Amino acid sequence: MTHIQISPSILSANFSNLGDEVEKLEAAGADRIHLDIMDGHFVPNITFGPALIRDLRTRTKLPFEAHLMIEPCDPYIADFAKAGADIILVHPEAGTHLHRTIQLIKDQGVKAGVVLNPTTNNDFLKYVIEDIDQVLVMSVNPGFGGQEFIQAQLPKIRDVKKIIGNRPIEIEVDGGVTPETAPACIEAGATILVAGTSIFKTSDYKSNIDALRSLSK
Ligand code: DX5
Ligand code: ZN
Repeated sequence: MTHIQISPSILSANFSNLGDEVEKLEAAGADRIHLDIMDGHFVPNITFGPALIRDLRTRTKLPFEAHLMIEPCDPYIADFAKAGADIILVHPEAGTHLHRTIQLIKDQGVKAGVVLNPTTNNDFLKYVIEDIDQVLVMSVNPGFGGQEFIQAQLPKIRDVKKIIGNRPIEIEVDGGVTPETAPACIEAGATILVAGTSIFKTSDYKSNIDALRSLSK
């Protein structure tokens, strides 16, 4: 059976305590840490930048994924890689030349992923598929935690899985992932689940993480 990885988004954590939160997530069985970078321009919210990632890097060995919701993104890719991101995830709409952006990421020696907004055409994957390590399917419009899962993204995940074929590319889902919506994501082909609200809703992060991995609900 495929191991389902859980990638908690610290967007829903207490920002005054992020170092401790990241340590708690690792102890609770998280597989990676999802870092939502927002600029108030590409998305209507502002979060944090590379300096925070650099400081959190000292608190956990878990892989860091930087989900860049910034436009333009190319000028900042080296900064995020140097700060300690292990994979950088970019939206095709955040730059004019997606292929160049992917190459910039690879040049930094880190993994690259493409993020598909709910209405982004999956065809964007076609010409970079040999160069990427991950596809992130947004199941909400990016910008905020706590939004409702968009069911129309399930067939989209299935289509992405077909496009990937037997390439070693992970499919990740982000937005509104709960114990109720996670099973359908996994059945459609997702192997990594991002979750903010459903992990930080109580202080028992281990139970909340375990509930997402379960297919029983
Ligand atoms: C939204 C972010 C998500 C978000 C998920 O733009 O990309 O990572 O934090 O939060 P929940 O799990 O609350 O939908
Ligand atoms: Zn995200």
